[in-house]
Amino acid sequence: DVANPRVATASANANIALIKYWGKADEELIIPRASSLSLTLDGLTSRTTVEFFDKVDGEEDADVAGGSGSGVDCREIYDYIKSADSLTIDDVPQQGKALDRVSRFLDIVRAQSGLHLPARVVSHNTVPFGAGLASSASAFAALAAAASKAAGMDLSPRDLSRLARRGSGSACRSVFGGLVQWHAGHDDETSYAEPVDMGSLDLAVIVVLVSSDLKPVSSREAMRRTVATSPLYPAWVESCAVDLDEALNAIRQGDLERLGAITEANAFGMHAAMMASRPAVLYWLPDTVAVLRAVDGIRDSGLGAWSTMDAGPNVKVLADARDARAVAAALRERVPQCEVEIHRPGSGVRLH
Ligand code: PMV
Repeated sequence: DVANPRVATASANANIALIKYWGKADEELIIPRASSLSLTLDGLTSRTTVEFFDKVDGEEDADVAGGSGSGVDCREIYDYIKSADSLTIDDVPQQGKALDRVSRFLDIVRAQSGLHLPARVVSHNTVPFGAGLASSASAFAALAAAASKAAGMDLSPRDLSRLARRGSGSACRSVFGGLVQWHAGHDDETSYAEPVDMGSLDLAVIVVLVSSDLKPVSSREAMRRTVATSPLYPAWVESCAVDLDEALNAIRQGDLERLGAITEANAFGMHAAMMASRPAVLYWLPDTVAVLRAVDGIRDSGLGAWSTMDAGPNVKVLADARDARAVAAALRERVPQCEVEIHRPGSGVRLH
């Protein structure tokens, strides 16, 4: 926007992890305990506009750009700026937790850019919220791109992934399209995402919607509990490094069968670790098990199909793109109560 350089719009797609991120080494910076690998999907998109403004509605010019040096306590000014932030998601104005989380993310952008102004954030999504369909990934990737651009920053893709990571860990992977690796690293600088060559693989993910209800435990809280109380967690984290190496090898060799088997095993391991938490974290519903068994049956019938599940009851099925329609048809037959949708690899974050 030439007339107002402090506004920008960006879109990002959700991603589905093949090797999962589950558990933080640093809660504040969102540094994970292990590296992860994902596939960005098409058709599950957040489109977000961020506009920094310097007049608070109906008030004097806020005149706070730059912030310091006036003798007034910066903290107070920053809190005042923050209180003027607004957030609208799919035409519904947000308050409370959702707005607070976005405001805290904007604080990071304000601190990095030096632009201490409040912002209006308007987001439209084709992702069902809180249903374990990685809504936070597309949301924070789009927000990071739009907010940093609107604040006048020109971040490299890697630095954009580091910024998106601060909003939601998995969001760092949605900065890129296709297959993406998130290097766990050990601090803000070294924890970032990077694209992985798809080679000869032609992938599809069939999303099987078991329920779009809000999840009972947030992934943040569930991770915390798993790390702190699950006796199976350390073993799962160890298995992730091995799984990631094997998955990358399978990708290089174009071996979908091996990639599928590792993907499924890694997701089951993550859920086993969650279920062993005290108290247990159980996202599965009866239909989750029905779908998992259906995928097993489809594989027995000779079609390549492998399950993965995130922090929710829905199942995502990895398949060769050429088999996707047959797998989807078989799923519709075996679990007619669930909605089934085919997704192909999607692109990374885009500015409009
Ligand atoms: O980015 P978060 O905090 O919503 O965590 C996402 C965790 C999983 O979706 C379960 C796994 C992953 O790697 O995406």
